[in-house]
Amino acid sequence: MGFTSSGKRWLTEAYKKAVAAGKHKKFEVLEGHPEFKIYRWNPDHPSQKPTLKSYFLDLTTCGPMVLDALQKIKSEDDSTLSYRRSCREGICGSCAMNIDGTNTVACLKPIDTNTTKATYITPLPHMYVIKDLVVDLTNFYNQYKSIEPWLKTKKGPQDGREYRQTPAERKKLDGLYECILCACCSTSCPSYWWNPEEFDGPAALLHAHRWVSDSRDDYTEERLEALTENDKRLYRCRIIKNCTATCPKSLNPALAIRQMEAMKSRNRF
Ligand code: SF4
Ligand code: SF4
Ligand code: FES
Repeated sequence: MGFTSSGKRWLTEAYKKAVAAGKHKKFEVLEGHPEFKIYRWNPDHPSQKPTLKSYFLDLTTCGPMVLDALQKIKSEDDSTLSYRRSCREGICGSCAMNIDGTNTVACLKPIDTNTTKATYITPLPHMYVIKDLVVDLTNFYNQYKSIEPWLKTKKGPQDGREYRQTPAERKKLDGLYECILCACCSTSCPSYWWNPEEFDGPAALLHAHRWVSDSRDDYTEERLEALTENDKRLYRCRIIKNCTATCPKSLNPALAIRQMEAMKSRNRF
C-alpha cells in the first residue's frame, strides 16, 4: 500500500474526528456566481489609471477562501492578475491585502456566502503599488531589520552549549513570536500612514517587544533606548488600535507598544 493513499485516509479520518469533536467548523457549501471587484494597475502602462475589474466565479468549483478565488481567476480567467501567495495556511504572510475594507491574509478569509454583493479586493492601503495587489514592502522590512530581530548576548551560555529558559520565561514570548510579518497591522495604522518612515509601525514594534521580553537577551535597555531616542519610532503610536483589530493572527501589537512605553518610563528592564 502506497504512503500517499494511507496518509490521505489517515488525514480524512482525523478531520472527521475533529469535526465530530467540534474542533473544526465545516465550511458552508458555496453556490452562485458572485462578483469579485479587483484592483488592477500595470506599471508597463503607467499612464493608465488604476481600475477595479470585475470577475464572476462559479463557486461550486472553487475552494472556500478568497485566495482560492484569486487562484481560480488567475488560472482560468486572467493570468495577468498579480498577487503574492505561498503557504495558503496563514503562515507566510505573503497574501496580505484589503478585502471588503479590512486588511487580512486572503488564505484565511472565507469567501462571503452572500453572493448578492460584490467582494472588493484592493492592495494594502497607503503603500506603493508594484502591480495589481503587490505592494512594495522595502520600507516595512527595513524597519523590521532596524529592531535587530535576533538574540544579542554579552556572555556565553552558562553550560557553554545553549541559552536556557524556564517554562515561565518562555511563556512570556507567547503572543509575540507568532507574528507572520504580513503588514496588515502597520498598513491599517493612521500614525503609520502619516509617518511611514519615522514611526516603526506596530509590526516591527511587536517584534521589538518579543526581543525585549526574551530572558536570554542582554540588550533590553539598549533596545528600548534606541526605540525612544526620538519621539517618532515608538511614541508616534496614538493608541488607535487598528493594528490589534485587524491582525489575522489575533495578536495585540497595541499592547506590546504600551508595555514597552511603560518599561521605559519606569526604567524597569
Ligand atoms: S495602536 Fe498605535 S500602532 Fe496600533 S493602530 Fe493605533 S496608533 Fe497604530
Ligand atoms: S502583528 Fe499581526 S497583522 Fe501585524 S504583521 Fe504580525 S501577524 Fe501581521
Ligand atoms: S499564502 Fe501564506 S499567509 Fe496566505
